[in-house]
Amino acid sequence: MPTTNNPQFTDQQSPASQLREMIRGYRTPFLINVAAKLGIADLLRDGPKSSEELAQAVEAQPRFLYRVLRALASQGIFAENEAGQFQLTPVAELLQTGIPGSLRATAIMSAGLYARSWGDLLYTLRTGKPSFDHVFGMGFWEYLDSNDEMGDYFNQSMTSRSGEEQGQVVDAYDFSGISKIVDVGGGQGSLIRAILQKHPHMHGTLFDLPEVVQGVYEIIEAEGLAERCEVVGGSFFDEVPSEGEAYFMQAVIHDWDDERSLSILKNCRRAIGNNGKLILVEAIIPSGNEPSPMKMGDINMMVLAGGLERTETEFRQLLDAAGFKLVNIIPIQPRSIIESVPV
Ligand SMILES: C[S@@+](CC[C@H](N)C(=O)[O-])C[C@H]1O[C@@H](n2cnc3c(N)ncnc32)[C@H](O)[C@@H]1O
Repeated sequence: MPTTNNPQFTDQQSPASQLREMIRGYRTPFLINVAAKLGIADLLRDGPKSSEELAQAVEAQPRFLYRVLRALASQGIFAENEAGQFQLTPVAELLQTGIPGSLRATAIMSAGLYARSWGDLLYTLRTGKPSFDHVFGMGFWEYLDSNDEMGDYFNQSMTSRSGEEQGQVVDAYDFSGISKIVDVGGGQGSLIRAILQKHPHMHGTLFDLPEVVQGVYEIIEAEGLAERCEVVGGSFFDEVPSEGEAYFMQAVIHDWDDERSLSILKNCRRAIGNNGKLILVEAIIPSGNEPSPMKMGDINMMVLAGGLERTETEFRQLLDAAGFKLVNIIPIQPRSIIESVPV
């Protein structure tokens, strides 16, 4: 039996060294988080700076900031040059604000709201309820709605994440015969915008909570899609827009337990005509000990919103109960395209 099935480690590392590294795994995310919050990468955009200069700009203690940056540099995030100044590295560049593929918002969310909920995982195990609610005194979606700054970071982190995925969806899925799509829980519309850009004959509707789609219309207009893309605000627990031929939901169903997921899927079923399609973009959890980042993502769903990542069998059962039949799975990374038709 191999010592490890975690690809981060080699069989040459002793079990104690592997476990110690995993136990200490929380450290780097907190260092990245603080650098992201302080906007250090933005300050280094125009060239190297000393920790004193940086400390002055971000109102931190110079010697302490130096130690944080030195620790980050030991991981390849920023580098200290011979003059004792810090500069960007290819990894640190991704912590800049507003660049394509920026991971700054993700770093702020991960070792921020998410980590605080993970810290109370035991509460979830004992009660079956999301620890987020216990820590923050309200539900995850309610919190994002009531906190503009965190709501914005969340939306940015989703846009950045789906940016990596949407290219694969656009390339892997056969859109022939579809002229009208609806993106349910589409966030800032990165998926629907990518699909409409690639298929100039298609029209679409972006649907998400009113506060999330607010302001997205300007992006759609700026991309020249205003004529073909409608933006609708509302809750998928009430209803979803009708008249689409294909309904996409990317990373939505995993946010909810079976009961709530069923209610969303049934609303989609009501809106979809008999010849329509439902396309989920979700992770499929592999069986057994097979490593998968989504087995960790599953715990995030558990502590934040009471959702879960599902196995193929679980998807089949859920879709079946909502009046759909799963007909095709197209694996992409890290999720899959799960195509269903109404029955
Ligand atoms: C994990 S994000 C995924 C966003 C987008 N599909 C993507 O992949 O980037 C889940 C989305 O569901 C939306 N959402 C949550 N509750 C909703 C509701 N009741 N009605 C409509 N959308 C909702 C959130 O605002 C968020 O944009």
